[in-house]
Amino acid sequence: MFDIQNIRSQFPILSQTVNGKPLIYLDNGATSQKPASVIESWEKYYTTINANVHRGIHTLSQLATEEMEVSRRKVQKFINAKNDFEVIFTKGTTEGLNLIAYAVTNFIKKDDEIIISYLEHHSNIVPWQMLCERTGAKLKVIPMDENGILQLDFLDQNLSERTKIVSLNQVSNALGVINPIEEIIKKTRANSDAMIVIDGAQSVPHFRIDVQKMDCDFFVFSGHKMYAPMGTGILYGKEDILRKISPFHGGGEMIATCSFEKTTYAELPFKFEAGTPNVGGDIALGAAVDFMEKVGHEHIQTHENALLEYAQKKLLEIEDLKIYGEKAHRTGVVSFNLEGVGIASDVGMILDKLGIAVRTGHHCTQPIMDYFNIAGTVRASFAVYNTFEEIDVLADGVRKAQRMLG
Ligand code: ALA
Repeated sequence: MFDIQNIRSQFPILSQTVNGKPLIYLDNGATSQKPASVIESWEKYYTTINANVHRGIHTLSQLATEEMEVSRRKVQKFINAKNDFEVIFTKGTTEGLNLIAYAVTNFIKKDDEIIISYLEHHSNIVPWQMLCERTGAKLKVIPMDENGILQLDFLDQNLSERTKIVSLNQVSNALGVINPIEEIIKKTRANSDAMIVIDGAQSVPHFRIDVQKMDCDFFVFSGHKMYAPMGTGILYGKEDILRKISPFHGGGEMIATCSFEKTTYAELPFKFEAGTPNVGGDIALGAAVDFMEKVGHEHIQTHENALLEYAQKKLLEIEDLKIYGEKAHRTGVVSFNLEGVGIASDVGMILDKLGIAVRTGHHCTQPIMDYFNIAGTVRASFAVYNTFEEIDVLADGVRKAQRMLG
């Protein structure tokens, strides 16, 4: 049974007022709120077993290590990775993408090609540009149409033996468009030997992921958008590739042996986990996985799809409101502007006064904004605890902003 009031009661922050109004939190694309079980898991770590992991003979260190490895196995199951050592803890999606772009450097030569898409977040553009600068490789971009739908003919014309990396998001953070990952992966496998990197930052919170079925080489995501603490994230990589590529960070715990002459690296996953990890956060990420599994992906998806459909309908009733990517298959996000009325941040500020939290601006996707020839949008993004009543208040708030700014 899906009981929205029961779910909401698990999120302490949701019961407060902001600017004298009940908080309506619609900025889940930026970060989700945390259920009590996640907060308690984090607190329990710091109040009972705080110690460094994989280092100590003492009891607390062993307990902390055990809990962190339990969390790794929860994530393994959550994304259906074949092995727990293919699951690497990171700070978040950005670190995961930078890690990959650095770690593959030795496999990339001048004039090799890296394909990304028009719909990428800056974190899936800049690390590849930096790789191109290091190696002389070329960056190519899958174009999109006016609905934010990627034009896959581009792949038929551009995939070749020169393509070494194909990296794109499963869901666009700016528009919520769901990309046809399966088709893209199939085309890539059929026409190149490229490594396939999927940015799952905006898909993991909304639907079930199966990295084996997907057949990607890497899959990265953040914990904080899926109800876990900030500073947590996951890099999944296929075993054979993780064994081949070099570590990103050097330091403690990632070595097997270290002398001034030569260092050999530790086994997976530790080769990629230099330094002291975010142990409390990583353990609480396991609690976030438990939360999502308990609610159930089917319930999350059904509820969020209904919210999106309702929001789209209510907002489109407003005159001169344009939704970007309106006709695309989407999840979790409505990105819009009031045509001819102020700028997105003005609308966002008025909504904030009404207790409604949305993100405004370019959403770290300037190429998408350039495509539409706009500076930014107002983005309402949903999580499992949002309600239809909240969307009614959002729509009323947008009307009010239109009246005030018009
Ligand atoms: N990438 C996050 C967003 O889309 C921060 O808001």
